[in-house]
Amino acid sequence: MLPLVPQRHRPIEYMRLMPKRVPPIALAVFAHLLALGLCGFVGWLAHTWQLPFSFGAALFLETVLVVVISNRLRMPVWWLFIQALFMPVVVLTQSLHLAAGWYLAGFISLVLFYWSTFTTQVPLYLSRRQVWRAVAMQLPNRSGLRCIDLGSGLGGWVNYLARLRRDCHFKGIESAPLPSLIGKLRTLFQSNAAIAWGDFWHHDLSAYDVVFAYLSPVPMPDLWKKAQREMRPGSVLISYRFSIPGVAPSAVIELQDLGRTQLYLWRL
Ligand SMILES: C[S@@+](CC[C@H](N)C(=O)[O-])C[C@H]1O[C@@H](n2cnc3c(N)ncnc32)[C@H](O)[C@@H]1O
Repeated sequence: MLPLVPQRHRPIEYMRLMPKRVPPIALAVFAHLLALGLCGFVGWLAHTWQLPFSFGAALFLETVLVVVISNRLRMPVWWLFIQALFMPVVVLTQSLHLAAGWYLAGFISLVLFYWSTFTTQVPLYLSRRQVWRAVAMQLPNRSGLRCIDLGSGLGGWVNYLARLRRDCHFKGIESAPLPSLIGKLRTLFQSNAAIAWGDFWHHDLSAYDVVFAYLSPVPMPDLWKKAQREMRPGSVLISYRFSIPGVAPSAVIELQDLGRTQLYLWRL
């Protein structure tokens, strides 16, 4: 049995999520196309009326318009920053006159690292040793536990816990090719650890005593449905930072870090 700590904190509720079925990348492209179209129209009017309309003014107008449109599309705040920076960065990089190969290399590296983030809305960012230690403290003393990290990134969680608890088995599943390869290499010689390249939505969770997830607010409602469908009674779902809207956790562990971040635990 896991020692559960009473809940003292309200889970974070993320109110401003993007419309569920439209991927944010599609909204972002749409916002830029609309902003560019409006810019073109203003440019045409300026040309017709023989008014000055410089490239700098067009860039400024596009940046303002894309932020306004993105905001109207209810994109979250961090997307507004990305949208605002996009066109100035494009113009800046164009002025550097880099060989096309650099853009291709950058694109391929990003694809290998971030893979399907544009649809999953779960980017690669890594949890720290402090989080892994807090998870370790929640693991029962019983040997033979089976634990999994959904979206295992570079395999840090699996690697750390497998070394700490040699009596238990740790698995990671990661969809991005390069991180999953790095994870595999890190756990190559550990008999109680394994990392698989794959999609955790297609992986059955019924074999696990502890399921760990450090994802994003977006997949949490669906993750809860999956956990309810597949996880055995008595097993535990642990999420770092992201709660499940409307589902009170069995316990919340507050970490002693700068952001006072939290681990949420749900016992099935
Ligand atoms: C926030 S990172 C967490 C990495 C790691 N668990 C940690 O704690 O350091 C989330 C990871 O989940 C991966 N991911 C997102 N959706 C996935 C899916 N459906 N199947 C497998 N991995 C996924 C992403 O590629 C990313 O590497």
